Formats: sequence, structure tokens, C-alpha cells
Amino acid sequence: MAASWIWLNGSLVRGDLPHLSVADRGFQLGDGVFETLAVHRGVAIQLQEHLARLRASGAAMDLHLPFSDDQLSAGIGLVVATLAGPGRDAPPLADAARGGLAPTDRGTGDPGDPATADPATATADPATTDPVAAEPDPVPDTAVRITVSRGASPGRGLLPPVGMAATVVIQAWPAAEPTELVRRGVRAVFSPIRHDPRSPLAGVKTTSRADHVWARLDAARRGADDAIFLTTDGELAESTQANVWIARGNRLLTPPLAAGILAGTTRRWLLTAAAALGLEAEEVPLQPEDLFTANEAFLSSSVAGILPLTAVDGRAIGDGRPGAIALALRAARRRWIQAEVAGTVPSGSVGDGTEPGASAAKDRRPAPEGAAPTPEGRPGGGR
Ligand SMILES: Cc1ncc(COP(=O)(O)O)c(C=O)c1O
Repeated sequence: MAASWIWLNGSLVRGDLPHLSVADRGFQLGDGVFETLAVHRGVAIQLQEHLARLRASGAAMDLHLPFSDDQLSAGIGLVVATLAGPGRDAPPLADAARGGLAPTDRGTGDPGDPATADPATATADPATTDPVAAEPDPVPDTAVRITVSRGASPGRGLLPPVGMAATVVIQAWPAAEPTELVRRGVRAVFSPIRHDPRSPLAGVKTTSRADHVWARLDAARRGADDAIFLTTDGELAESTQANVWIARGNRLLTPPLAAGILAGTTRRWLLTAAAALGLEAEEVPLQPEDLFTANEAFLSSSVAGILPLTAVDGRAIGDGRPGAIALALRAARRRWIQAEVAGTVPSGSVGDGTEPGASAAKDRRPAPEGAAPTPEGRPGGGR
């Protein structure tokens, strides 16, 4: 279940009440961009990369993000803290609400909104308003989504009026281990929807996801877990929510960004991390048939991690069971995340890819004043 609190334009507000205008262009037109990332024990994994990608997606749509990285990081910390249960080190709601950050260049959420977290109300009746009271898990693994829409526009039409104020929302959910998919592997179908790598929106993470939703519905109707998009040229692209890889011997192959795919943060980590695991990772154009001549295949994404891909369109990949390399990479990624969370990266392993071998702890920045501490006492959202 989602956290009962969300971060909306700088304020922590109750998630079960309406906050957005029906005129919001995110609702009307899918005019927005988003990111989904993993938070482990209060540390947001590859946060800077996700925020950079969010800004790049926004730039592609001429959509300015009116909050700094520090503000978004603190916002993530606040929402994640509301998911944690008793026994942890997070602040009561009153502190969390104080940590709600003022935006840099626009108004905050409506102060008259009764749903906006108010320290006075929160402390007056903690049984009903303290978001940390009821959750049993001290620090669950969390999936966090940052959504930025262009905001509300009273008029009709596709061209947005100038000077619109974006709507920025941060939500969090406990992220359960995808045990079943790890055990048996993902079974996918090829989607009949093709992605055009020459589109200016190729690889841009917009909220206009109708093709992805359709592909998942189609996959479900066909008894599959996911769908894989090919490009308009018939090459392998990506799945609806992950990058695609094959393994041949000790070589890991994934389509290049020129295939119009999302520049996945986990994909980039793998491209860097593979060497430390004795594997060679390369970006090469792949044909759908390559899946079936590979030793194994797998998917990579932030929240689900690395998942074996064992069949497409009912045809087995490899021996049809999760491959040893995919499972080893999944475990390696998990170890790397744990090291990130502990603030150390073991020697010989990689950092976040920008600086191979560097400890990600190096660029953890102090929390903005008022930000919620994590259970480790680090800034909300970590890095
Ligand atoms: C279409 C698509 N490709 C790839 C990915 C993987 O990206 P990341 O590893 O940054 O989660 C995602 C994740 O959201 C996605 O939606």
C-alpha cells in the first residue's frame, strides 16, 4: 500500500485526499515527466542520476522543475519516513511537516488546504495523524516516484500557456522482493507496438505511457509478465519497465541508446560493474532472435533490480530457467546497494559508475535544514 502521505509542491500532505486540479495537464494530456527509484534503509540509490534524468526529461518537454536536488532529496526523505514504523529514528509528523521544503521559485501547496500537514494538528491527535504510528516494518525497502506535470491550465489546447507552475509530487510504496519472478524468471511477449528510435521523445521518461499500459494489458491477456518493445527497424529495444540484456559466455550485451531506449540507471551501473565481476558488458544492436541463441537473458531496473528473463512468446531462453549470471548479478547489485547504504563500497567493486571505484558515500551531501534524518542519521533520501 502507498504511503499515506505524499509530498506535493514542497509540503507533506495526506495522500488519500484530492489535491490536484482536474485542469492539470498531467491528467488531461499526460503532459509530464517522472522518475521511479529505489530507497534502501533510507538511502535513495543513484539519486543524482535519477534527478539528472528527471531534469533532462523535463528539458526535452520544455518543462522546468522548480525545486533543487536538495529539496527533492529532503522531500523523498520525508515521504519515506512516513512509511517507517515504530522503533526507528524518524521524526514525529510535526518534525516531518516542518521539514517540508519551500520551493525555490513558486508558491507551496495551498496553505488553506485542510489536508496540508500542520504540526499543530499533527501533534494534537497523533493516533489519527501520526503517519509513523501504525507501520510495523521499521525501514522497509521503498519504491519512490517523483512526478512532475506541467500544472493546471484553465484553457483548452495542446500548446501550454507560458509561465505555468509545474506540479511536483513525491510518492512512496514499500517494495516487496519479487520472489516469484526471481524463482521462475520473467515470461514476456513481444509487443506489437514498435518504438521509433528517431522520435525526439525516444528515451524521454514522460508520463504519456499509454503504449506501455497497452503493452502490459496485452501481455497479461496473453498470460505473460511483461512485454518487450522492438524498434520500428525490428531491433530489440526494452521492456515496458526495464532494459533488456543477453549473456553469451562472459559477455553481457544490451541494445545501445540509439535503439531509442531509456538510459536506465541500473543498465549504466551494469555497464560499469560487470568488469569487476569478470564479465564484459557491451552496447550492441540486438535482434529479437538473439534472445533465443543466448545462454540467458535478463532485465534491469531500479526497483525490481536484475530479473532473469526466461521466455518470450512462449519460447524458452537458454534452458528456460533463471540463469546463473542473472542471479549472480542480482546478488552483486544487492551487495553494492548494501555497501552504498553502509557508506562504503568494497575495494574492487564499482561506485555509481560516474567514477569507477569511487565510494558513493563521498558525494552524500548534508541534508537541508529541517530535513528528516534517516535511521542511519543521514540526510533524507541519501543520494
Ligand atoms: C521503459 C523503461 N526502460 C528501462 C527502465 C530501467 O531504468 P532504471 O534502471 O533507471 O530504473 C525503466 C524504468 O523505469 C523503464 O520504464
